[in-house]
Amino acid sequence: MPPVMNPPSRVGKKHWGEVLMTASNKNQASVTLTDNQTGKAVELPVLSGTVGPDVVDIRTLYAHTGKFTFDPGYGATGSCLSGLTYIDGDKGVLLHRGYPIEQLAAQSDFLELAFVLLYGELPNTEEKAGFVNAITRHTMVHEQLSIFLRGFRRDAHPMAILCGVTGALSAFYHDSTDINDPKQRIIASHRLIAKMPTLAAMAYKYSLGQPFNYPRNDLNYAENFLHMCFSVPAEDYVIDPVIADAMDKIFILHADHEQNASTSTVRLAGSSGANPFACIAAGIASLWGPAHGGANEAVLNMLAEIGDRSRVQEYVNKARDKNDPFRLFGFGHRVYKNYDPRAQVLRKSCHEVLDKLGVSDPLLELAMELEEIALKDSYFVEKQLYPNVDFYSGIILKAMGFPTSMFTVLFAVARTVGWISQWKEMVEDPTQRIGRPRQLYTGPAQRDFVPLDKR
Ligand code: CMC
Repeated sequence: MPPVMNPPSRVGKKHWGEVLMTASNKNQASVTLTDNQTGKAVELPVLSGTVGPDVVDIRTLYAHTGKFTFDPGYGATGSCLSGLTYIDGDKGVLLHRGYPIEQLAAQSDFLELAFVLLYGELPNTEEKAGFVNAITRHTMVHEQLSIFLRGFRRDAHPMAILCGVTGALSAFYHDSTDINDPKQRIIASHRLIAKMPTLAAMAYKYSLGQPFNYPRNDLNYAENFLHMCFSVPAEDYVIDPVIADAMDKIFILHADHEQNASTSTVRLAGSSGANPFACIAAGIASLWGPAHGGANEAVLNMLAEIGDRSRVQEYVNKARDKNDPFRLFGFGHRVYKNYDPRAQVLRKSCHEVLDKLGVSDPLLELAMELEEIALKDSYFVEKQLYPNVDFYSGIILKAMGFPTSMFTVLFAVARTVGWISQWKEMVEDPTQRIGRPRQLYTGPAQRDFVPLDKR
């Protein structure tokens, strides 16, 4: 059994019940609603977090008024307490456990960020070495998994494979599916972070018809992933530090992003007590959509469709046209109404990688042209539609040699850290309940069943 690192004793002590109490005590403001029928006034507490907007605590609303709130898309709903990630979309701020993403991208590395997200604090030297060792020594997958994987069609989309094999992990690692055992939770978290690159690389190799590469413990997380994807038995992949650094940055920038669709999916799946491997498989399914993680693949497909720099304005016009469903992939964000701070970091990294590789790809030149035009276009400026992280990640990954079908897979590798940290936080929250939204029913009112011969 590979080494298991116990959570450092100095972190993870905060009790969410205390946070709630402090939050409600901190702010005595209240919201008053009046029930139309009874005329009864209902006081709702307003809770404050560390930073960011206060929230109205509506948990007693239905009990007092018989009314639910209505918020499709959850644009105005806080679904949980979380101490992992803070986003200020208006200012373009992204913090993980308080640390700005720009500082993490410049001074940290992916596994250190994984530690910070999972355990709440920066590791000291010994803790970091222990964590890196634990992850590195969990990267191999059960040999039987490769047989399972070979059951897929060769032309299967790697996201379909990743979704399937991640779900299957719960059939291979029974000893870490008891969510009530803190040690098993840690082992499952380490296994997922460690094995996801191996599974992703296997999905890629399978589509190429090449043999799987075993992980190498002498390489760091990003280097090992590049090795597993690009080495062949006849020739080792020579790791360029600029490329490995860009890979690590892509992982850092995709590690966590608060309560987005896939993270909320992981939490919702986990809220019923489902095991972590099944929950992460659910997150992968949600990430796959083109409005979410699938956007990086969609960006490159869109660039291929545009085809030539001379047609960029035509596509910008299509995106502006209300009667045309077309959207510019890689632009806009639900939360950021300013430049996505991750995109700022990746933009620089993108140019470094392209310079280093001396890539002259017409699609990449076209992307740069599109960026320039869209940033000046009145529609995009007025609607605050800035390039998002997926715009640049797709371009870098293409330059590195990844096919578009692998882009979302790479996003999933990185986001596994955020998903499992959020899952762990949820399971350890004593106030956690099964997620169960309500609805505004618009179907027929009660009516009598009509037998077949009378219809
Ligand atoms: N191209 C053209 N118009 C757009 C775009 C776009 N990419 N994005 C938003 N708009 C328009 C939209 O039509 C709407 O216009 P109006 O107010 O006239 O109806 C307005 O901007 C607001 O858009 P919305 O759809 O209400 O905003 P949302 O918060 O529901 O959607 C989004 C956010 C990311 C799904 C959307 O911007 C989009 O579809 N972008 C393209 C896909 C993409 O790049 N997704 C990756 C997101 S970042 C990575 C991740 O989190 O996974």
